[in-house]
Amino acid sequence: MKKTALITGITGQDGSYLAEYLLELGYEVHGLVRRVALEQPEQRLSRLQGCLDRIHLHPASLDSYASVFHIFTKQQFDECYHLAAQSFVAESFADGFSTMATNINGTHYVLAALRELQPKCRFYFAGSSEMFGKVRETPQRETTPFHPRSPYGVSKVAGFYLALNYREAYDIPCSNGILFNHESPRRGFEFVTRKITDGVARIKLGLASELRLGNLEAKRDWGHARDYVQAMHLMLQQPEADDYVVATGETHSVREFCELAFGEVGLDYRDWVRKNDAVYRPAEVDLLIGDATKARKILQWEPTVNFVGLVREMVRADVESLTSQHHEQPVALSGR
Ligand code: GDD
Repeated sequence: MKKTALITGITGQDGSYLAEYLLELGYEVHGLVRRVALEQPEQRLSRLQGCLDRIHLHPASLDSYASVFHIFTKQQFDECYHLAAQSFVAESFADGFSTMATNINGTHYVLAALRELQPKCRFYFAGSSEMFGKVRETPQRETTPFHPRSPYGVSKVAGFYLALNYREAYDIPCSNGILFNHESPRRGFEFVTRKITDGVARIKLGLASELRLGNLEAKRDWGHARDYVQAMHLMLQQPEADDYVVATGETHSVREFCELAFGEVGLDYRDWVRKNDAVYRPAEVDLLIGDATKARKILQWEPTVNFVGLVREMVRADVESLTSQHHEQPVALSGR
């Protein structure tokens, strides 16, 4: 029997990879999107280009319980992947209230609608390594206490416990993924990895003369989003709902990311990166590195792309895409 899945946040990086993956597996895929996305498909549905004609989109707002509820009255789902969120940590410092409203109430609305209408539907909550924040142990695993350092982190801790509470109180099969940073050529430009690879491509093509960044010493465990959405799916295939860390187990600084990314096009980052005090955060998460032993053992999940491979893929994609927009001739990379 064909399974049916609902993805909230389907227009984002993870949503688009997950939609493609579930389609490959033979799922009927539905997505919750804001009405404005349907009105501006070129800008807002660009990541779904490859599969738009094979998915079903439903306009709704995570600000409105009624609109979320309505989707669950129209269609039965076997699985619901709740990825929609205000996911940019820096923005959560600028506007903590709307981050909390979308991330906490939005999650609560989906859970409450499921409880009311489809209590057997398996639910995935997109938890985050930002929940560990000021880390209490290294590496971080499922049992590591949370200590969030931003309104975003606080909202994700609340969402995590909401999902856990619906599992314990109402027997809804809710699983929490605690995903460490995951990137790809589809990453939004506001996140540091894409900001760097886009900057590298612009500098290489003569479209920019510097890249302004904040804290270069922060360390993150960076994996590839395509690998991470497979872990989400595996979580919902288990007989019992549970919580899993998803990470590579390697950590690198923003500085190392710059070094590799600029090196990929034969440049030295020290010649191009300038400090921008404005993008330092009021409270920083200094070091993240995950221990995904549980996911490897129980889900049989393994990441397939390492740090070097990820940086290379992102730089090449940005050079290629900007070249096709601005140059007729292909640009030679460093030759590696
Ligand atoms: N965005 C950004 N822009 N970050 C910068 C910059 C800059 O110019 N310069 C330095 N950084 C540092 C930030 O201070 C942070 O320490 C690190 O780069 C990574 O920042 P982001 O790429 O914005 O990601 P994040 O780690 O804060 O959060 C991401 O990962 C989480 C999982 O741990 C987001 O995807 C979250 O939604 C996700 O939950």
